[in-house]
Amino acid sequence: MVQEPRLRLAFITGASSGLGLAFCLELDRRDDFDMFYLVSRRRDLLEELANNLRHPVRLFPGDVTDPVWQAELADDLADSSTRPLIKYLVQSAGMGRSGLAADLGQANQDTVRLNCLALTQMIQLTLPYMDKGSHILNIASVAAFMPQHGFASYAASKAYVLSYSRALHSELKAKGISCMAVCPNPMETEFLTKSGQSAQVKGFKRLGVESPENVCRKALRKLDRGKDVSLSNGAARLVLALSKLLPHRLVLWFERKFS
Ligand SMILES: NC(=O)c1ccc[n+]([C@@H]2O[C@H](COP(=O)([O-])OP(=O)(O)OC[C@H]3O[C@@H](n4cnc5c(N)ncnc54)[C@H](OP(=O)(O)O)[C@@H]3O)[C@@H](O)[C@H]2O)c1
Repeated sequence: MVQEPRLRLAFITGASSGLGLAFCLELDRRDDFDMFYLVSRRRDLLEELANNLRHPVRLFPGDVTDPVWQAELADDLADSSTRPLIKYLVQSAGMGRSGLAADLGQANQDTVRLNCLALTQMIQLTLPYMDKGSHILNIASVAAFMPQHGFASYAASKAYVLSYSRALHSELKAKGISCMAVCPNPMETEFLTKSGQSAQVKGFKRLGVESPENVCRKALRKLDRGKDVSLSNGAARLVLALSKLLPHRLVLWFERKFS
């Protein structure tokens, strides 16, 4: 009996806005997958996006940290008669709260639950549906390179994403699966106001601001070249160089003085 070809999926979390949305639009230009699986909590925005994409879309709205949602996704993938093959997993769902960790309380845990735990669970859940030529793109940040006074749990969570992604890239190489950490500078997305910052980046940090479109275009180009980390502008590379040169004690002092 001849088997039907597998249904190749591009699975995007955080698809309703910002960088996740930019990844959907950019990946939509490619022909190496058959269908999007789009995830975020705001179904209406996902529906609007689905209407503007070339590829067919399956909406999977929900909270990625919710065990019930995760179980439904696991059942959906397992039950599917289409033998899904996840070609791209882009994990852009993320959060952060600025402020002193001692004052943030639950928000610290929510950050770790979403940025680290759910990201890891999603990989665990989808990896059985990946094969040679599959790609995982985890959105980290330049915040991953150094501890941040006033953004402690966020920077620590992104350090986890960076380290975990690079190690996975090495471990999955033998199977032909790649894993990349995307490390953007500040982008003027909903993230800024949701995290308690002003909607526009101010001061010297403006020099590093980049657009989600640029971040995702460069990340996909680097993915095609087999890289495990994507920095998309000179300012991000400067932050990385400084993080290697300067004692982190000094960086924290500077952040404390000038924040
Ligand atoms: N903007 C920056 O300056 C910046 C810089 C470096 C790295 N990053 C990282 O880039 C990624 C994307 O952020 P962004 O700038 O594009 O911000 P954004 O516009 O706020 O996007 C975050 C996305 O995550 C979704 N989301 C949040 N919590 C979720 C949950 N529990 N379950 C499912 N979906 C959830 C949101 O959709 P719903 O609200 O509909 O659920 C939204 O689609 C994040 O990981 C962020 O840490 C951002």
